[in-house]
Amino acid sequence: MCGIFGYVNYSTEKDRRYILNVLLNGLSRLEYRGYDSSGLLVDGDWGQDVLVFKEVGKVTKLRGLIESSRPNMDKTFQTHVGIAHTRWATHGPPSRVNCHPHRSDNTWEFAVVHNGIITNYKELRASLLGEGYTFETETDTECISKLAKYIRNQHREIGFVELVKTVVGKLHGSFGILVKSISYPQEIIAARKGSPLLIGVRLTNDIEADVIHIESVIKRDSLNMPLMNGCKSASASHGKYSLPPNPTEFFLSSDASAIVEHTKQVIYLEDDDIAHICGGQLNIVRSTNDKFGCTWKVQTIDLQLQDIMKGSYNHFMQKEIFEQPEAVANTMRGRLDVPHKRITLGCVNDYLPAIRRGRRILFIACGTSYHACMAVRGTFECLSEIPTVVEVASDFLDRKAPIFHDDTCVFVSQSGETADCLLALKYCLERGALTLGIVNCVGSSVSRLTQCVMHINAGPEIGVASTKAYTSQFVAMTMLALVLSEDDVSKKVWREEIMQALAQLPAQIDEALKLEKQIKGICDTLQAQNNILLWGRGSQFATALEGAHSLVSAMDRWLHTEYSVGRCS
Ligand code: BG6
Repeated sequence: MCGIFGYVNYSTEKDRRYILNVLLNGLSRLEYRGYDSSGLLVDGDWGQDVLVFKEVGKVTKLRGLIESSRPNMDKTFQTHVGIAHTRWATHGPPSRVNCHPHRSDNTWEFAVVHNGIITNYKELRASLLGEGYTFETETDTECISKLAKYIRNQHREIGFVELVKTVVGKLHGSFGILVKSISYPQEIIAARKGSPLLIGVRLTNDIEADVIHIESVIKRDSLNMPLMNGCKSASASHGKYSLPPNPTEFFLSSDASAIVEHTKQVIYLEDDDIAHICGGQLNIVRSTNDKFGCTWKVQTIDLQLQDIMKGSYNHFMQKEIFEQPEAVANTMRGRLDVPHKRITLGCVNDYLPAIRRGRRILFIACGTSYHACMAVRGTFECLSEIPTVVEVASDFLDRKAPIFHDDTCVFVSQSGETADCLLALKYCLERGALTLGIVNCVGSSVSRLTQCVMHINAGPEIGVASTKAYTSQFVAMTMLALVLSEDDVSKKVWREEIMQALAQLPAQIDEALKLEKQIKGICDTLQAQNNILLWGRGSQFATALEGAHSLVSAMDRWLHTEYSVGRCS
């Protein structure tokens, strides 16, 4: 998966060495998501020039390339904007030229880093070719920087925000982008649609930045205002959220784990948001009239650096497998009360009557989270006696499945950012259904957009093959079923048995983990096999599906090979 990182120091002097280190370090924090190449861009020595470094392979190779290029590391910047990216090749093979940032022209008037996929890039490319633009990469991203240049050439007085707004208005698909331009020096724009982006803020002079609510009013007039003198007019005109122009640092990323060591104060962007950092101020506008609300909040992320370090484990997946006892205990903490035979889900309490009265419950998810829903479905419908459907988000959308206002749609997602899940969530909101999130990442899109959310509290899951989140999701959904059935006297004994069993789960997982050596021994005997068939029936069908899924995603990460999976029934 691609990763985005950007760093802005405003009115606080940093040398190039420091800036490059922050950017490279940010990229290292994104490495766990998998990538094949990386690149970054910083200001050059003369004002209107830039330094760009791109390398195939690990971030350490990019660092080596920078060191061997011997830029003047002592050059200082009072205010500076740098952007960086880890790429997972989709359009064009891993190569220096295909690495991000991508440029509009030889002068790098516009530089873009991008996560996601632009589905209409061929059309955009064709029309820009028709206008005389040339392309140097095979990527879908390059059309974004070229398009920015084209629009700027058409409207020389256009402001940066209006320009990017026009660009993203022409993009189909999904994106999280950072745009930097020598025509708008010391400014940066972050825009998202379907790909996560958040902005961390570190103020040198501490201010009460944690509860600043901001309203967005889309004023076309103010967006149209030209920015003649740098960014002079920008912040006041369309700024609905302004931080004072004190010495400030901004950290922009697709992932909180790259920000947490710098600041805990973050703002999550929503789809269609365009965030503009300029003159030490952050201004966010929404490019559409959004019916799901338009309020941003500075959130404090509860994530420590050690949470995202792998410690003595060989890899994150192993660490997270061993964190399962703690993860499920945390999922149940403060919720499961065995002595009083009670479960309290504060977050969903107010909605229980509506869920019970509802026509159906639909669990909508992707990948591992979908399998967790499959695993719990049997118990869930027996306990709740509410018709229960489990849907893969993409298929659900493709079918345009009917949704009624008395349906409860439960979105289960570790990250809370999976594109198909978000689209399905919006689809259900538009149809008036009650929506509930079961999410690990606090502050994620699913947790913000659903009417009520239950966090599974499993802690950060870095390994791409999900492990502890799966177990915790299972436990969370089981608790939800128990709460929904609490008035049913006929199920009293069964419910109490399940509660007892849940309480024993952390210790039982601990016991199972002691079998690591034996399990590895079995795996060793399978190493020479080309095919592995996983069988399962009843509640273990989901286990077989998840086992196959984990094998494939782990192999994909490690080998970066192509694979195909067949399903037989
Ligand atoms: C897919 C991944 O993209 O998303 C799966 O390949 C993952 O491994 C799935 O399980 C769902 O992710 P999330 O974050 O919504 O639970």
